[in-house]
Amino acid sequence: MTSSAYKLIPGSFTPVPSIVPERVVDFDAVSSFSSDLDAVGVTVGSDGDVDASIGLGRDALSRAGFDGKAGQTLLVPTGSAPLLYAIGTGDASGLDADALRDAAAAFARAASSSARVGLRLTDVGSVPAERVGQVAAEGVLLARYRFSELKREPKVTELTAVELLADGVDASGVTAGIPGGVVSARGANVARDLANTPPGHLTATDFGDLALSLAERFGIEVEVFDKQQLIELGTGGLLGVNAGSAEEPRMIKLRYTPNGEPTGHLAMVGKGIMYDSGGISLKPSDPMHLLMKMDMGGAAAIFGAFTSLRDLGCTTSVTAFLMCTDNMPSGSAYKLGDVLTARNGTTIEVKNTDAEGRLAMCDGLALAAEEKPDAIVDIATLTGAALMALGPIRAALFGNDQAFVDQATAAATATDERVWQLPLEKKYRKALDSDIADIANLGGPFAGATTAALFLNEFVDGVPWAHLDIAGTMNSETDDSWRSKGATGFGARLLTDLALGFRPVR
Ligand code: BES
Ligand code: MN
Ligand code: ZN
Repeated sequence: MTSSAYKLIPGSFTPVPSIVPERVVDFDAVSSFSSDLDAVGVTVGSDGDVDASIGLGRDALSRAGFDGKAGQTLLVPTGSAPLLYAIGTGDASGLDADALRDAAAAFARAASSSARVGLRLTDVGSVPAERVGQVAAEGVLLARYRFSELKREPKVTELTAVELLADGVDASGVTAGIPGGVVSARGANVARDLANTPPGHLTATDFGDLALSLAERFGIEVEVFDKQQLIELGTGGLLGVNAGSAEEPRMIKLRYTPNGEPTGHLAMVGKGIMYDSGGISLKPSDPMHLLMKMDMGGAAAIFGAFTSLRDLGCTTSVTAFLMCTDNMPSGSAYKLGDVLTARNGTTIEVKNTDAEGRLAMCDGLALAAEEKPDAIVDIATLTGAALMALGPIRAALFGNDQAFVDQATAAATATDERVWQLPLEKKYRKALDSDIADIANLGGPFAGATTAALFLNEFVDGVPWAHLDIAGTMNSETDDSWRSKGATGFGARLLTDLALGFRPVR
């Protein structure tokens, strides 16, 4: 790591505490719980029988304020260890993989001071055994996530063992699903670590060094481009954004190659703005803007996904470009009215230096298109408009090819990283017209997420493309189901699933 002078724990800080050192939780599917667990959770629906192991009937539970709604938990008083929790799963008809993931998350959070836990799923609906193991593991690990690296006395109990018991389900099937859940949750937690890390602790240079140091461990190739190499590549957008910074930019190129003949080639491009001050178009001074340390959430999600590809046996080749720099005002910063020339030759008039994401991304998209992949997916904390339109639960999805957009939607559904498709309305393209350059980086007052997507569309050279605007979903204000307060890692699991299921569309 390079040393930023103000790192709080000089030398000892690692931006990915979730994997360095590897925190291994002993997961197992069982047919009866071990006797030494600290806490046991038992699911209870909002109707039907209450399992006898709870020791209380529905009336007693309901008097205690627990009626089995999804997300509810109740510590049931018993005379002896382990702690016993009732975990609400809601209506039986809604009992799907998402509900099981959420129930596992609610339990893991309720039992947050227990290290050895057991979860009994009394009903799994029609969710297949393997999928039960996968989503339960995900829910537990995502909910127990904490970023406590910078606290002197972290108040967290590390999870050491998780036993899963699903009534009427073959334990060996559940066992088979667990590693997939563990790996995908690990990828999401890597993305969270990166996005939660303060900007002074994770510069573009640090991110590049980190990627290089983890390459071998996760079976990926990493190539890091420094400022001089970026000048030679002609990435004028990324370099323009970087101009005001004391820190060098980095473009991190990742490559995953499967063992056998690849079943396809997917490219990914991530926004890696390590901190977005707005630049000369400075954001107002508001504590809320500490969230702009997460403006590299797209790049973080891709990197998280890459830590999962080999371990999940992805058969598609994946190439990624992470476009990393901070966006700072200074005497050398790019200015309003400046014209930048992108990698593909497009000239761009800068009308607002805070619309920097699309400038960093456009060179990555052009480079991705040059690889002639079967499809490109990009992910970026791109517009406040996406946050305004869809809030913190759903990301905006755009694209130029419905079949590929549908694959992205299917991956979003499978992972409960929800999206909503918005139209790539070409009528709005003229909002980006410039008097002196090919395009401007600022659209009009309306449809801000769409004009940003239309800008990106100019750089994909007609390759099937999907664009995820995660400005709303990058952060959670509260602990909520699988989301833990802070960076959500949104996109890491979605992109992993997309790569695993990818089929070329043309
Ligand atoms: N990084 C921001 C978008 C953002 C906003 C992410 C809120 C997460 C939460 C982006 O670079 C930005 O500043 N966008 C501007 C664009 C505008 C100037 C066209 C915005 O959305 O206001
Ligand atoms: Mn900005
Ligand atoms: Zn930004």
